Amino acid sequence: MHYREYAKILLEGSTLEDKLIPLKNIDYVECLEIFELPDNPGRTNHLKFNNEQVKFPRNTSFHLEDKKALALHFFANHELLAIEMMAAALLIYPDTNKEMLSFKKGLIKTIQDEQKHLKLYLGRMKDFGLELGDFPLNDFFWRSMNKLKTPSHFYSTMAMTFESANLDFAQFYEKSFLAVEDFETAKIMKIVYEDEISHVALGAHWLNQWRVDKDLWSYYSSHLPGVMTPARAKGIHFDRSCRERAGLDSVFLDHLENFRDDFKVTNRKSW
Ligand SMILES: [Fe+2]
Ligand SMILES: [Fe+2]
Repeated sequence: MHYREYAKILLEGSTLEDKLIPLKNIDYVECLEIFELPDNPGRTNHLKFNNEQVKFPRNTSFHLEDKKALALHFFANHELLAIEMMAAALLIYPDTNKEMLSFKKGLIKTIQDEQKHLKLYLGRMKDFGLELGDFPLNDFFWRSMNKLKTPSHFYSTMAMTFESANLDFAQFYEKSFLAVEDFETAKIMKIVYEDEISHVALGAHWLNQWRVDKDLWSYYSSHLPGVMTPARAKGIHFDRSCRERAGLDSVFLDHLENFRDDFKVTNRKSW
């Protein structure tokens, strides 16, 4: 099947089976078709966006199963959004040159990891009696999608910001689950963390291809949409070594580590 047909199932299909469809025997044939981003991804009623505020549980309450399940519900929502946004990226950026097809191959590989993560979270939530959609699913990440006009905007936002922050969050929550001796959930966080390093590395690889004579930091920070700032690329405790593993150099990391802004989200305490 052509990669775009898969992408349409991932984006427009409404069930979890659609979002988790196994991606195999994929055709990569260049395509210049114009695809208009839908207002929302396909979602069954139970999975529809709902921006009712739900507070992320404190990790000090992780001895309680329902609090752990709620935390996993947030993480699973992020995985689902990642799958849909990456599928949208496969569709909205036309294959104007050969390079775009390798960009898309990379995206498919990443989507396979996101599907794996989503399945792991869903499975663990089920152990705690929770299903995706039992709590409101916010659309925060999705709302930035229509501002990501080029693949450079896409990777600056997705890989270098959201997934970068997740490097810190995944480590933080792995430790939180270990602290309550939930080794099974901690193991899932570790898997996500390791994969996330490669996702950030892929984003950095592409921005390095595209930036030409600009340095990576200015290229990256000038491609963030709207009011988003690099503050969003960091979690609770900034970890430098995993970002070095992702191939980011010390000049870039100095900028990121020292970046401060006035936005409230900068000082947020949880994912
Ligand atoms: Fe993921
Ligand atoms: Fe990821």
